[in-house]
Amino acid sequence: APAPPLTFVIFGATGDLTRRLLIPTLINMTHNGLVGEDLHVLGIGIEPGNVEMLLERLDAFLKTSGDIEDQERKAAWQSLRKRISYISGDFTQNAVYKSIADYLSHAPSANAAFYFAVPPSFFGDIAEKLSENGLTDETTGAFRRIAIEKPFGHDLASAQALNARLLNHAEESQIYRIDHFLGKETVQNIMTTRFANMMIEALWNNNYIDHVQITAAELVDVGLRGKFYDATGALRDMVPNHLFQLLAMVAMEPPNSFDAESIRNEKAKVLKALRHYSREEATQNGVRGAYAAGPLAGRDLPAYTETADIAPDSDTETFVALKLLVDTWRWAGVPFYLRTGKAMKTRDTEVVITFRQVPFAQFPRHDSRPQLPPNRLIIQVQPDEGLDMEISIKSPGLVLKTAPISLDFRYADRFDIGKQTGYESLFYELFVGDQTLFQRADGIEAGWAAVQPFLDLWAEGGKPDPYAPGSMGPACADELIGRDGRIWHQPGDKPGRKTV
Ligand code: BG6
Repeated sequence: APAPPLTFVIFGATGDLTRRLLIPTLINMTHNGLVGEDLHVLGIGIEPGNVEMLLERLDAFLKTSGDIEDQERKAAWQSLRKRISYISGDFTQNAVYKSIADYLSHAPSANAAFYFAVPPSFFGDIAEKLSENGLTDETTGAFRRIAIEKPFGHDLASAQALNARLLNHAEESQIYRIDHFLGKETVQNIMTTRFANMMIEALWNNNYIDHVQITAAELVDVGLRGKFYDATGALRDMVPNHLFQLLAMVAMEPPNSFDAESIRNEKAKVLKALRHYSREEATQNGVRGAYAAGPLAGRDLPAYTETADIAPDSDTETFVALKLLVDTWRWAGVPFYLRTGKAMKTRDTEVVITFRQVPFAQFPRHDSRPQLPPNRLIIQVQPDEGLDMEISIKSPGLVLKTAPISLDFRYADRFDIGKQTGYESLFYELFVGDQTLFQRADGIEAGWAAVQPFLDLWAEGGKPDPYAPGSMGPACADELIGRDGRIWHQPGDKPGRKTV
């Protein structure tokens, strides 16, 4: 069913995010019938001008972006664009909020979702102004929701401060903190894979699982995002948010129901169970890297520290690998190895569950392998979304020999997902008022608390280890996992196939 009538208010309407992501998402949703003709869009921007100015820019962008290449999406855009308005004004001043209130009081519906497409330093200010001007007041029955996207703070203290400030001006039930990984089908599918399948969930604990690896390797380098990235680094950019969302999905207990609070309670419980390392433990369980100069995808990539807007003596990491422990009955003794980085060998986001060895392998060994290869379940988050299950079979022939094989499922073979930005489900849930796919204050703070020892340690000094562009990170990452007698899964490595 289409979402209820509402106005989608965008702070920062003339910015890049609006045209690149927000508008294309609304076009897809219009096309898919997720929103109806009663969706209105109100853009707020500092730039002078009227709605014609905004529409002209959006038209110019969409002409070449590929978002409205097909006739149906073109028609969806023609329909949506008639329902867009613009207010020019400074969102640090009250005047613009008076205009928004005036707009909403004449709108067909008083429901509103406010999306903050502005730098995070303004999140608290805008929430405060909205509330001071009565715009977060839901007592008339209309909903008023705030949608913000990471970063939610820079460390534990700033995340707590931001949450406190937001919660001063709106209820938790009104705050929709977006983690775009939760918009990915494959991430949402982790819960289904586990809780709808006896043969998987029954083995999902430290009796049967040896360890878990979560990798988000990126081919892209820092590029033009130097200013943001140098103040952020791989750990803050990816770990307490995206990778911890994956970890929480993998490690959570089954919720009693699939309502938002039950699921978010379980996720928060797991994140709170992440062990908080001492300084000494942080030294042993985390490594960082920064890419050196070298060839990447057919061009010569300058070293991270030679990139535009990066301080030449920067100690910001572009790669991080951690070994984390989840202190619960289910996961005691099962390490979670996480790694992410830029300018790596390939784009690959995956969760690899490695099972324990069979207790007793009586097979005659003709192939000189010391052990049977362990079973693995690989949740391929992107690209080439799917699920692979690696098991051993008897290889044909008179001699009893085992062979590892992979049972592969690819979404694209089975379903037609169509063109998506990945935000459609997030916006739909925002509009219908379901917070399942959004982060809650306690979960965010628990995430920061777990990475804070590494932030503190690295703030003391030292430099990330260099790694070659197009590699899978610095040698210290291999040593981190190697100390436990394990190796990282090579993306694309499948039994019976060559490693890509
Ligand atoms: C963003 C980070 O949140 O996620 C980026 O700021 C990163 O640095 C991106 O590239 C990864 O998202 P995806 O969906 O491309 O895997």
